[in-house]
Amino acid sequence: MQRVFSGIQPTGVPTLGNYLGAVRNWSKLQDGNECIYCVVDQHAITMGHDPKVLARRTREMAAALLATGIDPQRSILFYQSAVPAHVRLGWVFECVARFGWLSRMTQFKDKAGKNRENVSAGLFTYPALMAADILAYKATRVPVGDDQRQHVELTNDIAQKFNHDFCDDEPFFPLVEPVILGPAARVMSLRDGSKKMSKSDPSEQARILITDDADSISLKIRRAKTDPEPLPSEPDGLEGRPEAKNLVGIYAALTDTDSATVLQTFGGRGFGDYKKALADLLVAKLGPIAAEMQRLLADPATIDGILRHGATQAAAISEPIVTEAERRVGFLKA
Ligand code: TRP
Repeated sequence: MQRVFSGIQPTGVPTLGNYLGAVRNWSKLQDGNECIYCVVDQHAITMGHDPKVLARRTREMAAALLATGIDPQRSILFYQSAVPAHVRLGWVFECVARFGWLSRMTQFKDKAGKNRENVSAGLFTYPALMAADILAYKATRVPVGDDQRQHVELTNDIAQKFNHDFCDDEPFFPLVEPVILGPAARVMSLRDGSKKMSKSDPSEQARILITDDADSISLKIRRAKTDPEPLPSEPDGLEGRPEAKNLVGIYAALTDTDSATVLQTFGGRGFGDYKKALADLLVAKLGPIAAEMQRLLADPATIDGILRHGATQAAAISEPIVTEAERRVGFLKA
């Protein structure tokens, strides 16, 4: 049994892309692994935020995770800020990681852009906290999107340097392995097949949220950009047709098959037909999730109670690990 850890930013109601790309895989990993999942509210303040919006989105993300199948009986689910072990180890890791390592993080470079003088210091040190999130549990498998691969590699650099500097005997921290979610899970914008489906897209028509009702799902799919050709009968025929490829990929992901299988059924058919089938499938799959999320959100205290219990379980694992790490660094902990 391996220990899985992952974190998700409280960016609001997940899109279909977040769901197929990350969240759904989290619940699948519950079979055969010990899973620890966390809503990373501390990471969410690195770029400027509104406190009320952060609080609302943090709880919404918790509700979304519960509604999409994270089972608090089998997995540990909590709010990052409720478990102090993360920032304690995060501080140690900020002092283990080299300035140069953090300077090379492409996500920092992208997010800071030309504004380096004015971004928060937390945006820069963020990957050290992410490494602490994982290693406070000595987790070895980390499901993430491809954009987080470099941070997981940095986690291993930090673990190795810590082990080298502070462990004479055996390595204290394990090496971690990213579980990169496959290309099938990459959902693109409904308006432009070359862009990722994103919460920040100015057009609401470009994305489906897991809380969308049947009418808006149908409308968004009906309006989704396509080309005039009918669907091909083989996946090869999707090359150079990013919008068609995306719509077929969504169907395949939702039914746990592949494009070839979907095209066996729909090859040769026009988009009118296909879009109808896809919209019906989306409504059938997302409807129960949206309903469960609404039910949960009607009672915020119960959601927070579930996550509080998760925080207690998380602390029971991470406290002794982080205390031992601090002791190795030379803190007396008296
Ligand atoms: N940085 C991740 C993201 O933006 C979120 C995250 C924080 C995370 N801590 C983590 C992911 C630990 C995996 C493991 O998506």
